[in-house]
Amino acid sequence: MSKVFITCALPYANGPTHLGHLRSTYIPADIYARYRRLRGDDVLFVCATDEHGTPIAVKAESEGLKPIEVATRYNEMIKRDLEECDISFDSFTRTTDDLHYEIAQNFFLKLYEKGYIYEKDIKQLYCNSCQRFLPDRYVEGICPHCGGEGARGDHCESCGRHLEPLQLEDPVCMVCGSEPVVRDSRHYFFRLSQFQDKLMEWIGESDMPSNVKNYALQWLREGLRDWILTRDMDWGVPVPLEGNDGKIIYVWGEAFLGYISSAAAWSRKTGKPWREYWDAGAVHFIGKDIIYHHAIFWPALLMAYGCRIPENIIAGEYLSLEGRKMSTSKNWVVWTSDFLERFHKDLLRYYLTVNAPLTRDTDFSWDDFQRRVNDELADVLGNFLHRTFSFTGRFFDGRVPEPSELTAEDEEFLNSIRRAPDTVGELLENFQFRDAMMSVIKLAKKGNKYFNDQEPWRAIKESPERASTCLHLCNLLAANLGKLLMPFMPSSAGRVLSIMNMEDEPWGFHELEAGRVIERARPLFSKIPDEVIEKEKSKLIKEEDSVSETVTIDDFAALDIRVGVIRSAERIEGSDKLLKLMIDVGEREMQVVAGLAEKYSPEDLLERKVTVLANLKPAKLFGVKSEGMVLATGESLNILDPGDAGIGERIM
Ligand code: MSP
Ligand code: ZN
Repeated sequence: MSKVFITCALPYANGPTHLGHLRSTYIPADIYARYRRLRGDDVLFVCATDEHGTPIAVKAESEGLKPIEVATRYNEMIKRDLEECDISFDSFTRTTDDLHYEIAQNFFLKLYEKGYIYEKDIKQLYCNSCQRFLPDRYVEGICPHCGGEGARGDHCESCGRHLEPLQLEDPVCMVCGSEPVVRDSRHYFFRLSQFQDKLMEWIGESDMPSNVKNYALQWLREGLRDWILTRDMDWGVPVPLEGNDGKIIYVWGEAFLGYISSAAAWSRKTGKPWREYWDAGAVHFIGKDIIYHHAIFWPALLMAYGCRIPENIIAGEYLSLEGRKMSTSKNWVVWTSDFLERFHKDLLRYYLTVNAPLTRDTDFSWDDFQRRVNDELADVLGNFLHRTFSFTGRFFDGRVPEPSELTAEDEEFLNSIRRAPDTVGELLENFQFRDAMMSVIKLAKKGNKYFNDQEPWRAIKESPERASTCLHLCNLLAANLGKLLMPFMPSSAGRVLSIMNMEDEPWGFHELEAGRVIERARPLFSKIPDEVIEKEKSKLIKEEDSVSETVTIDDFAALDIRVGVIRSAERIEGSDKLLKLMIDVGEREMQVVAGLAEKYSPEDLLERKVTVLANLKPAKLFGVKSEGMVLATGESLNILDPGDAGIGERIM
């Protein structure tokens, strides 16, 4: 039995969780933690909410609340979201807990005493109208590395680099929009540059996944500069040295310690020493945007402190939504709690796992979600289990029948069941979650094929011992499927085991004795009807439409809104809401998918004049390309009538 320390990136307490968080970080980590426990390993799986940093401070300010109030609200939501997805943390704490402050400050002090942290007067951005310094996300500008717009004072989303506010081109204050000035302030720096070689060596030799390695090596080759570890603001862990009022430790300088403080809180409760788990090796699950922090900052801090550095870093790539980047500010997102109100958590755990390998960006699409649930969970897995259980109920009095002599086909089938725990286990050990999950589905598929080939419904009359053998082996597979599903879909796996009156047992192949009672049960997974998916899609479109932010006159001028006339209109198959339109906008015809079908039939629209947003970035709306948008009212779907304006005329 070996110990292992598993962590998930600490979610910022500035919003609830969405499917992206779950995909890259929480679901994979949980599958891994559950698997290791089943293997008999001694797992300490920790997380916490990350409650400092400027996003929370800015949000609180805009809502007229204290940062701790905002943090508490989201801590509760996040905790509930993750619990409801069956993420099996041993400890989930907050970085605003006293214990965290204590641990983070001691860590800082030790590095200071060892000479790895030094003081320096530096220039900082200061907003005269707000009368304060502008750290991190209090300021936005253009990224000096890639030219990306909207880069924040600490991080560029377009190229993923860590930034400092003074590096930004054309900076503006996020609170009042004015241009900041430069002022002197004394700060504390971490000697990151000293760790260049050691990090290079560690990463070079490690067998971390290639996305982590490649990014980290690229940054190391660019060279490391010392890292500013403090900020001029109130919200955060105070700098534990005299004469530093109004200065706090930078959120990334203390958030990592949340892994430790969460574990330490667990130790206080259980009396078990977290340190032994840490020393056995930590595996960090994160999303790709914070590879820099975990592969560079954190190990360097640990090297400076003088303790074990992480064993592995697993970085899940990003999830987009219906082909477009998720955005919480634009409400282009599916929140975990909304999802769980309508669908079972295991559907989510399943879909986000099989959708793509963790090391690749991928997309959440409602159609694809429906297809995979219906084709794989309902038709393959659910169907196999259900027909096995109901056949056993009907013809064998609800008891697993005795097998008779095995044919070559039986043997072959039995062997694939025997091999599965090793195959799946090895994939999980290598963090290949998708392949692992798919090999379980493939096994269920084999089960269906075997069931069909053996035709037990016929054999039961002609040679009952053949039917018995078949159903014995099918129940054996069902039992093993129940076990294999434990890490991925613990709730459904638990149902299989309880139908079969089985206990939790460690990972591995399980025999099944004849005579075991199989309970009557309803199908485990049912198909998702089209209407349900349509509803989710139309909600997305609506939410996207309801975004309201102020725009500048330039923003408005960038919109090419013009008069057009509808030349053809047809329904989109399978949708009650959408129409495909060809619209003549003067110099060209464009194809637009419009959500107008509830009010207008295609005939109503022919040769009708409309107002069109003609330079919308083309997107596929549920499979059909759409190059623009017909302007209409939101609820009542009244098309805006351009009167007697000419075709192609612009609206300004
Ligand atoms: N607070 C930091 C982590 C500190 S760890 C010491 C943070 N929080 S977060 O709330 O922004 O993100 C939580 C996790 O979700 C991170 O692993 C992050 O990479 C991941 N993701 C956030 N948005 C995501 C997507 N759209 N898609 C996939 N993963 C995403 O980062
Ligand atoms: Zn950049």
